[in-house]
Amino acid sequence: MQKIFVLTESDFISPSFDLLNASTGSFTWKTPSNIALVKYWGKQEPQIPENTSISFTLDACFTLTTLEFSKKENTSSNFDFEIYFEGEKKDDFKPKIQKFFERIEQYVPFLNEYKFVIKSRNSFPHSSGIASSASGMSALALCVMSLEKELNPTISEEYFNKKASFLARLGSGSACRSIEGELIVWGNHPAIEGSSNLYGVKFPAKVHENFKNYHDTILLVDEGEKQVSSTVGHQLMYNHPFAKQRFQQANDHIEKINEVLKNGDLKQFISIVESEALSLHAMMMTSNPYFILMKPNTLKIINKIWEFRASTKSNICFTLDAGANVHVLFPEKEKEIVNNFIIKELIQFCQENHYICDRIGIGAKLISNM
Ligand code: PMV
Repeated sequence: MQKIFVLTESDFISPSFDLLNASTGSFTWKTPSNIALVKYWGKQEPQIPENTSISFTLDACFTLTTLEFSKKENTSSNFDFEIYFEGEKKDDFKPKIQKFFERIEQYVPFLNEYKFVIKSRNSFPHSSGIASSASGMSALALCVMSLEKELNPTISEEYFNKKASFLARLGSGSACRSIEGELIVWGNHPAIEGSSNLYGVKFPAKVHENFKNYHDTILLVDEGEKQVSSTVGHQLMYNHPFAKQRFQQANDHIEKINEVLKNGDLKQFISIVESEALSLHAMMMTSNPYFILMKPNTLKIINKIWEFRASTKSNICFTLDAGANVHVLFPEKEKEIVNNFIIKELIQFCQENHYICDRIGIGAKLISNM
């Protein structure tokens, strides 16, 4: 059996490189979003999760990011970058990227030797309520890693992916699960060999056929900006009256889903995934201050799904992110019956009938390297 290495923080500090290797160029990465089955909600500094989470990597929802780089004439201590989003210069995105660069600088000290132009776009509408931080931050982390590989071509693919995930995590926790596919675990757990708090790893066991090509149709119930950011949500887990029980519940769910993903028990899968979605929202409703991100149509959809499941014995189920949109999950072999049901019964609850058909994906892809 192949030995799985667990890396520590010091393994991610780059040595100094000969910068003549790369004076100008660009990289473009296409990086997917992901949907958590067992949720991450609550963290410690620096972006260390309170519990283990696992997600399906998506396919149709992605960010495409190009990083153009050129060697600075004179080294300065400031980061030098511009950012364009969907063709427009976006100075209001700069503070977030500046903070990301500051957090990762000690691991990629070559960053301030270069000037950067970052050009990014999403496959999904900006205001769709779909979080773009996972795909956006992982795309940028991968571009930075491509530059590191240009400077140090000897790094292995495994190290490249782990460090990309490590850097992405420092941008947005869940982004560390958007490097590879199809199922990614983040957070150290005794049942998952090789798992780490510092980066995401591929689910290490053979996944049952039932989960091949799994579908995720995202129903856009509320396309507005979220009222409460996930940063605030994570903070509210400090001193939360149910925090300890929640982290324990999530870790127990990991242990169970670990078996389910191997044995293909769809009923158990449904019960874990729906419980996770509702527990996440229960944490929001019981924090101080409390808040509700679900909308009336979110609940209508959930009830319709439950009725349909009871009357047809389908294996359809739902999960939720930190928002009102509903992710409808179902196996490949039920795609016709469930798609018909979605179109006939659920689309009416979406804003302007908007929805996105997605499915489990294989991870990020290097599009160009010039
Ligand atoms: O990565 P963040 O800080 O945006 O947090 C994501 C939290 C959830 O999407 C609600 C759950 C998860 O595990 O992705």
